Amino acid sequence: MALRFVHCSDIHLLDLDGVGPLRFLNKRLTGAVNLALHRRKAYAPHLFDKIVASALDLGADRLVVTGDVTNLALEAEFELVRRKFGEAGLPVTVIPGNHDAYTKGAARSRRFERYLGAFMEGERASGHDYPFVQRFGGVALIGLSTAIATLPLYATGFLGDPQLARLDTILERLGAERVARIVLIHHPVMPGVSKARHDLRDLDAFMRVIARRGAELILHGHEHLHIEGVLPGPEAEAVVHGIASGTSLSEREGRHGAFSLYTVAPGSIHRAHYTWNGSDFEAGRESTH
Ligand SMILES: [Fe+2]
Ligand SMILES: [Fe+2]
Repeated sequence: MALRFVHCSDIHLLDLDGVGPLRFLNKRLTGAVNLALHRRKAYAPHLFDKIVASALDLGADRLVVTGDVTNLALEAEFELVRRKFGEAGLPVTVIPGNHDAYTKGAARSRRFERYLGAFMEGERASGHDYPFVQRFGGVALIGLSTAIATLPLYATGFLGDPQLARLDTILERLGAERVARIVLIHHPVMPGVSKARHDLRDLDAFMRVIARRGAELILHGHEHLHIEGVLPGPEAEAVVHGIASGTSLSEREGRHGAFSLYTVAPGSIHRAHYTWNGSDFEAGRESTH
């Protein structure tokens, strides 16, 4: 009856072997590759393997990843992610982040969806990738995309009115059935969390949908920061959890590599949070909503 899953985000797996000599890249990507190489010290891809191993140890039914699985949305990166997800040993659900639509070419060719579509199977309006709905009895995962190609130095997201209208319909229908609705979105959804040029451009419209239809839990990433809050809903508030990067080596408060184990059933949400202590993921705070 309950869905037991591990949530992580912003794993930014790096595979620059497929990039080729930097001189063959366009200027924008050259800068970005240098940035990604620089990041290597701050993020460790092997932490993702630890998260998968922990999810299996903890008996999770599923692993949920809320975007930024790559750095530059390169084919080599998506190939690595697809292999990692395929070999995880438990089912994976994924949505895209801004880094997964890094270039216009990647976004236009639907590279993320082409490589990782197997991890986004579910009900959806025909002709539209998002939202997709994965039902597990009385619990549903609802996957959104805020991923758009942006100008350099921008990391904004955008849902768009058509996707929001479809979300409205889905939340209304599942709400009427008393299903526990878990919304997956890459960008933060509480006002003021993300700075301009890093934010969800149509956050107000998203908040209006939640205020009208409600949701039980909203999970996001993007800021690489631990965030907790609520958004107003028609009956109860929607619980909002933002999680730090799963592969971060940071020792700053709220920025440690992290994942959470959720047990969700209609009317109850339990979370156990785990953070990276330099050598392992350590059990931390537990909370119930
Ligand atoms: Fe990220
Ligand atoms: Fe992001």
